[in-house]
Amino acid sequence: MQSDKPLTHYEVLLCLTGGIACYKSADLASKLVQAGCGVSVAMTSAARRFITPLTLQTVTSRAVYRSLWQGTRKYESGHISLTELADLMIVAPATADIMAKMATGIADDLISSLALSSTGECPVLIAPAMNTRMWNAPATQANVARLREWGFHFIGPSNGRLACGTTGEGRMCEPAEILEEIKKIMLQRPPKRKRHHESQA
Ligand SMILES: Cc1cc2nc3c(=O)[nH]c(=O)nc-3n(C[C@H](O)[C@H](O)[C@H](O)COP(=O)(O)O)c2cc1C
Repeated sequence: MQSDKPLTHYEVLLCLTGGIACYKSADLASKLVQAGCGVSVAMTSAARRFITPLTLQTVTSRAVYRSLWQGTRKYESGHISLTELADLMIVAPATADIMAKMATGIADDLISSLALSSTGECPVLIAPAMNTRMWNAPATQANVARLREWGFHFIGPSNGRLACGTTGEGRMCEPAEILEEIKKIMLQRPPKRKRHHESQA
């Protein structure tokens, strides 16, 4: 039976890095699942201090990837196979730290390695979240400019109340807005799963 969910057959790789906005990413994962797509989650060790893998595992019905050394179910190299499967990789929340790694080609953990291995494989959407001073720091702004130039997509950050109690730019966009942006980027191409199927037919 054909499903009428908008993202059926699509695969999203949702990567969480260490910020308080991690709690919003559980909602994003849930919204993606409800939209019909497969969702695999990877978390940095800092992200796992803010929200447990169990939450994401339960929402997505899949094991959560935590380490370069973990391996996947089929014993592939997770740091490249996950981006080969994904129609889109999203980093949400994206810390100043992960953007610095991505802008300099550092690949010393799972998510930075996945970001490098996305090259030519899947689009990457970045949803930054951080304190306003961290966002405005020249290093962060230079990293963002570089990543934009290389074709990485960005959503936000928005202006508003921050977890540290201040108000300003640095708030991660709301899951519903991020979902719309994912659709906008991802629906430009048919799902990989269908493309591979057709090329084998
Ligand atoms: C309570 C707390 C909240 C934090 N929130 C953020 C944040 O919103 N954005 C950010 O860039 N860093 C934040 N940090 C700092 C990062 O967690 C830190 O830079 C960490 O090394 C990031 O690692 P990762 O990029 O591997 O996840 C926070 C740290 C703490 C202790």
